[in-house]
Amino acid sequence: MENTTNINELEAAKQLEIINELKVLYNQDYQKTGINKTYHIVTFGCQMNSRDSEKISGILKQIGYEETDSEDADFVLYNTCTVRENANNRVFGRLGYVGRLKKSRPGMLIALCGCMMQETTTVEKIKESYPFVDIIFGTHNIFKLAELIKTRLENEHTSRKHSDKMVIDLWKDTDMIVENLPNERKYSFKAGVNIVFGCNNFCSYCIVPYVRGRERSRSPKDIINEIKTLADEGVVEVMLLGQNVNSYGKNLNPQVTFAELLEEIEKIDGIERIRFMTSHPKDLSRELIEVMGKSKKICKHLHLPLQSGSSRLLKIMNRKYTKEDYLDLVDRIRAAVPDISLTTDIIVGFPGETEEDFQETMDVVRKVNFDSAFTFLYSKRTGTPASTMDNQVEESVAKERFDRLLAEIQALSSKSSGRDEHTIQEVLVEEVNSHDENLLTGRLSNNMLVHFPGDESLIGKIIPVHLNESKGFYYIGSQV
Ligand code: 5AD
Ligand code: SF4
Repeated sequence: MENTTNINELEAAKQLEIINELKVLYNQDYQKTGINKTYHIVTFGCQMNSRDSEKISGILKQIGYEETDSEDADFVLYNTCTVRENANNRVFGRLGYVGRLKKSRPGMLIALCGCMMQETTTVEKIKESYPFVDIIFGTHNIFKLAELIKTRLENEHTSRKHSDKMVIDLWKDTDMIVENLPNERKYSFKAGVNIVFGCNNFCSYCIVPYVRGRERSRSPKDIINEIKTLADEGVVEVMLLGQNVNSYGKNLNPQVTFAELLEEIEKIDGIERIRFMTSHPKDLSRELIEVMGKSKKICKHLHLPLQSGSSRLLKIMNRKYTKEDYLDLVDRIRAAVPDISLTTDIIVGFPGETEEDFQETMDVVRKVNFDSAFTFLYSKRTGTPASTMDNQVEESVAKERFDRLLAEIQALSSKSSGRDEHTIQEVLVEEVNSHDENLLTGRLSNNMLVHFPGDESLIGKIIPVHLNESKGFYYIGSQV
């Protein structure tokens, strides 16, 4: 443990040194041209990736880059996702476009990072068909970005063919957690905080354990210190991030549970709201339900992926709970936190799914009455056990079930939405409404959106709002 800490600290010091070297270099350029270099990141996928993009931004800003909102930039990065096939296709589409842009922008850099890069076949395809890409890195070595830029700049003078100048640095896995590098945050009042990286669950359809590596928890000390600093800087809401936050702390010595971590975060002055994502039903402990029940700060929203309502399929999916376990868990959560909002993820068309299996999913959907559900068509991911199962469901059958599921979810949520209509609720004001500048947009503790007239100066504050009218997915309110 001690040794690992030392290695991580040495690595952070080394990277900071390289960041400073580049900063001097870029500043010399600025002195000559009077123009800062610009960067643009396109982020695909989940909140983990969004948080990683903030870390990338932190390093780039420290070097001297300025953010810009289009790909017509000096440095374009794609932070990729590979959880489903369609995310991959979108990246190749963008690459074609940016490759053409690069022809008219000498010196432009293009980098690819994130989950898709952890797949050998993807990287081979890029080397072959997109040789203009400058840097490829993965999910385990974001902290090395400055070093990779430096190497790419050095290659400019040493190699001839463009494809030989490409810097590729991919790690299969790591136990390193490098702390204290520059850090950029999108919002001043709410922040994502990583608590556990990777995933050990190997659900049979999922590629995440292969591309994000084994589970590693950050030390409670580092997490608490980060949140205390955030609170000092004015952050009122934290979102604790992990593929499976409920297994937080299992690899720490001494072990710490997620519930214990939450209790420590609860004590931090200035933090008013605590959210977390994602919870695996198999690891959601009685201790955690108890902590949620008595907490004043944990938000009344739980995202609890179901994936399927069929116990038979859940077993093949390697989810380690049954339909009955899930329903029982929901009952216990609702008993402890009566007004909690529940959301979920559901996959339709997993190999071997029969109409009966699908009806079991529909049954859970009706029984739980989720506030909202993300539904996905099963997507075959190379390397996962499900991809070689010989009973793949025909696309047209899966699509037809998907449409029925979506219709059911919409019908149920339109009946049950608006539970808080005509009440006064606390709202964290997040931004000026993107469609109407006279309106502000904020969120209730249960994550529902509220639009109401108000002044921009309220952004970042938690205020009481009367919910005048429910519009299904959001409320129209007024300040009280
Ligand atoms: N096909 C479809 N959906 C998937 N998910 C993960 N892997 C796949 C796949 N191969 C969904 C799960 C998970 C969410 C983030 O993505 O529902 O909870
Ligand atoms: Fe994928 Fe399962 Fe891990 Fe979630 S818990 S990231 S679905 S393997």
